[in-house]
Amino acid sequence: MTVDDIKRISVVGSGTMGSQIAQQFALHGYDVVLNDISDDLLEKALASNRAILSRRVDKGTMTSEEMEAALSRVKAERDLEKAAADADFVIEAVSERLAIKREVFGKLDDVCLPHTILASNSSSIVISMIAEGIRRKDKACNMHFFHPALVMKLVEVVKGQWTSEETAEITCELCRRIDRMPIKINKEISSFIVNRILHRLSQEAYWLADNGYATPQGIDTAVKLALGHPMGPFELADLIGLDIVYDARMQRFTETGETRDKPAQVLADLVKAGHLGRKTGKGFYEYPRQIE
Ligand SMILES: NC(=O)c1ccc[n+]([C@@H]2O[C@H](COP(=O)([O-])OP(=O)(O)OC[C@H]3O[C@@H](n4cnc5c(N)ncnc54)[C@H](O)[C@@H]3O)[C@@H](O)[C@H]2O)c1
Repeated sequence: MTVDDIKRISVVGSGTMGSQIAQQFALHGYDVVLNDISDDLLEKALASNRAILSRRVDKGTMTSEEMEAALSRVKAERDLEKAAADADFVIEAVSERLAIKREVFGKLDDVCLPHTILASNSSSIVISMIAEGIRRKDKACNMHFFHPALVMKLVEVVKGQWTSEETAEITCELCRRIDRMPIKINKEISSFIVNRILHRLSQEAYWLADNGYATPQGIDTAVKLALGHPMGPFELADLIGLDIVYDARMQRFTETGETRDKPAQVLADLVKAGHLGRKTGKGFYEYPRQIE
């Protein structure tokens, strides 16, 4: 198979990442089926994409005809089998829980065509763990987009212990076809490159905040002004979603058992209170209205 054989894409999970990944493919002419566990979530995802593309039309960076064409290429389908049966390439973007991802991969392995590649957008879990129980292990890899996927160029493509070179190469080329820049990671490691570096920085930031050395807002200001980062670690966590950050840290803590990898108290308290960042209107900061 070559990248030219990939015509139909399926994206499983229509949340923050899946919705925009689906739309990015559709913007580049691919037919996409978007799957989630409820019609409400799917409708929300399609409405969110419409709102984002409408802003592009308002700014004059795309025409309303282009917008309608791109939106119409994403179809919503709640039934996973129907959503994935015809796909040449599937991207899983469900919640960051290994058990859920394994279940989704198992079902996909059963219903997808033999040539179909299965990629996971996990931000921390390596493909060998997710694809452990499937038959097509050589056709599975990590394909890690960054948030917001309609804007961020980088995609980390990670080869697991069973991923074939062909699968990794096709996945990298597919990224280029949708105007995304892949970097290939030849040997898998949890959290890959960007999040490992970010994790070390934010781990220190959380430790400083947990121990009362400075407020999250103060630490963000320091990081932005002195290190030149566009956002501080706490602003970024609000953007990503504090539940996602919490789960990723918990996943890492489970793997390493090191106290320093445990989710910080300030983070755990906010997640427990249901304050998940921008998507709920409050996290380390307050957001007057929900951002799509
Ligand atoms: N949020 C980020 O900044 C970010 C960045 C890169 C990667 N990721 C990764 O992308 C994945 C999704 O993250 P997100 O932020 O979009 O999460 P999210 O919570 O916004 O969306 C996850 C979606 O998956 C759906 N889902 C759960 N179980 C499902 C199932 N069995 N079948 C179909 N859909 C199911 C949920 O209903 C939800 O809509 C995670 O693995 C995360 O680590 C997130």
